[in-house]
Amino acid sequence: MSASTLFEHPLDPLSASELEAAISAARSVWNLDHRHLFAMVQLEEPTKAEVLAWKPGDNFERAVRITVLDRATAAVHEGVITTDGIARSWKVIDGAKSPVLSTESEAAMAAAKADSRVIDALAKRGITDPQSQVHMETWPIGAQIPEYLNDGRRLVWTPMWFKPTPEANMYAHPINNVYAIVDLQTEQVVGIEDGDVTAIPMTSGDYRLSQTGGSVALKELQIIQKDGASFDVEGWRIQFERWSLRVGWDQREGLVIHDVRFNDNGDERRIAHRLSIAELVIPYGDPSQGTYRKNAFDTGEYGLGNYTNSLTLGCDCLGEIVYLDVALANPEGEVRTIKNAICMHEEDFGILWKHVDIDGHVEVRRGRRFVVSSIVTINNYEYGYYWYFYQDGVIEFEAKLTGILLTLSDEPGVDHPSATQLEEGLWAPYHQHTFCARLDLDIDGTNNTVIEVDSIAKPMGPENPHGGAYITTQDVIKSESNAARLLNLAKARYWKITNPNKKNHVGNPVAYKILGNVNCLPLASPDSVIGKRAGFMYNHLWVTQNTTEERYPAGDYPFQHEGGDGLPRWVQQDRSLENTDVVMWYVFGLNHIPRIEDWPVMPVERLGFSLKPVGFFRRSPAMDVAPSMAACLRCNGHPDEPCTCNH
Ligand code: NI
Repeated sequence: MSASTLFEHPLDPLSASELEAAISAARSVWNLDHRHLFAMVQLEEPTKAEVLAWKPGDNFERAVRITVLDRATAAVHEGVITTDGIARSWKVIDGAKSPVLSTESEAAMAAAKADSRVIDALAKRGITDPQSQVHMETWPIGAQIPEYLNDGRRLVWTPMWFKPTPEANMYAHPINNVYAIVDLQTEQVVGIEDGDVTAIPMTSGDYRLSQTGGSVALKELQIIQKDGASFDVEGWRIQFERWSLRVGWDQREGLVIHDVRFNDNGDERRIAHRLSIAELVIPYGDPSQGTYRKNAFDTGEYGLGNYTNSLTLGCDCLGEIVYLDVALANPEGEVRTIKNAICMHEEDFGILWKHVDIDGHVEVRRGRRFVVSSIVTINNYEYGYYWYFYQDGVIEFEAKLTGILLTLSDEPGVDHPSATQLEEGLWAPYHQHTFCARLDLDIDGTNNTVIEVDSIAKPMGPENPHGGAYITTQDVIKSESNAARLLNLAKARYWKITNPNKKNHVGNPVAYKILGNVNCLPLASPDSVIGKRAGFMYNHLWVTQNTTEERYPAGDYPFQHEGGDGLPRWVQQDRSLENTDVVMWYVFGLNHIPRIEDWPVMPVERLGFSLKPVGFFRRSPAMDVAPSMAACLRCNGHPDEPCTCNH
């Protein structure tokens, strides 16, 4: 089942026909021709005030933000035009460098594979047919530019792998130490890096079923929902249990969640206006063989949404599933649709709560969660973005990381202190996956205040006579000059976002808190090139005053940017953060020391965060959940009685 792609709400993702109309109008209004590439075509989101004022049936002028790369001059323009073809703005973005576009990647790879120096370098390594036997990737050079090329031009750099057969896993066969540097504008190879020649490791990395067998089988597990799903889909609006939300999608960020509300006994309470993962950067921690350049901003330098999987051919969800399609423009301005780009379903999530009273009376509830998810494939890696909505008022984001490790090869026996050896001559460099969530929460209204909560034990003495006492301290984050914060395990630190204008029944501001799970700190020096370009990595929480222009934590154009843009720059404004519209930016990372067991395809690694009500509700909202009858026949043979099992 696929939902309608017609515009029904100002925040709906752009439909194919809206994209086509806007692009066609843009070509004529701004005189765009074959030299111009559409780097990014996004919904120009209405302001919060416009969204809140809008009612079904109201007219709304939908607008599109179009980022154009002029291939002749490398200039980047941003224009805003309505889907009716009325231009609102058009300006050149000084100093901006476009993200690398698929058209440019293809041209760069063709140039590299045809270059005689590349052909010779590959021949030295025993490869005679680069066209069919070499898998090449175009990586942003990441401001790690050789001096002779450092004149502002846009460059990619091309790691290569050997693909002995069409079905082989090429990441098992890295080609050591040969790279082309290609100028994206001229489509010419402008540099060759050709170092030591070492043997290509040839141990198989095969993972396809036809190659591995995969014979460990279990009995079939079916999820049967004979009455259908418990959620309703109306266009892009979802209702599940007491939750309502809108699903969104963006070419740069991928999956987006809008306008999250919870029906609290008839009161539709606002919790979030917009939730997204605004950046993802993967700094590599191995200096050898050019790996120091592998610091891609998958969101800002590639446009993560471009790589969204179509789940028509493979989806891991069970039960009643509803899919949404998304439309996007390619660099030539042609519009394509990704069928089944977003998956929605519900999952049994075990026990929600339970108590056995002293008289033996049992109350137990099973929990259900609503899941909206999307998966991208960027070269070797997969990222799944999963948003969960629970029956106790909790929202959770989980990134699922899988796919294939990035690899390098070298002479067997050589020391690689910053990489894990997987096979003879094959290593996987250490790296970190660093995400930054942009959380525009609106806790019972737009004006909120963020507070850091620490748990502190006073020294043993009059205030703590037995030594076991501890208290919580609340530090209001008043302005942006002190709005960059780190986790602190010793103080069990968390942050909550409160509405000082709305008190709960015991007189405290209603609030939600953010709780992370896996996290780390960057190991790249803040003085390194990647440290400067991804300055947001050095804190776990940032809070800023909400401004439409401040969307991406490493800045709008991280491609080859020298650094300093985004959050570290914005907070220098030191705007007030008390009782105003704020954005919380949560940074979370996975320090990935590859395991041999991550090879040849990495089992899913998970990390993310939860948003939990703290004093938002009058009591646990899970108390209102009815008992489940589903498992009773199996448990105790009394189908009319509530289930008392807890598995
Ligand atoms: Ni990894």
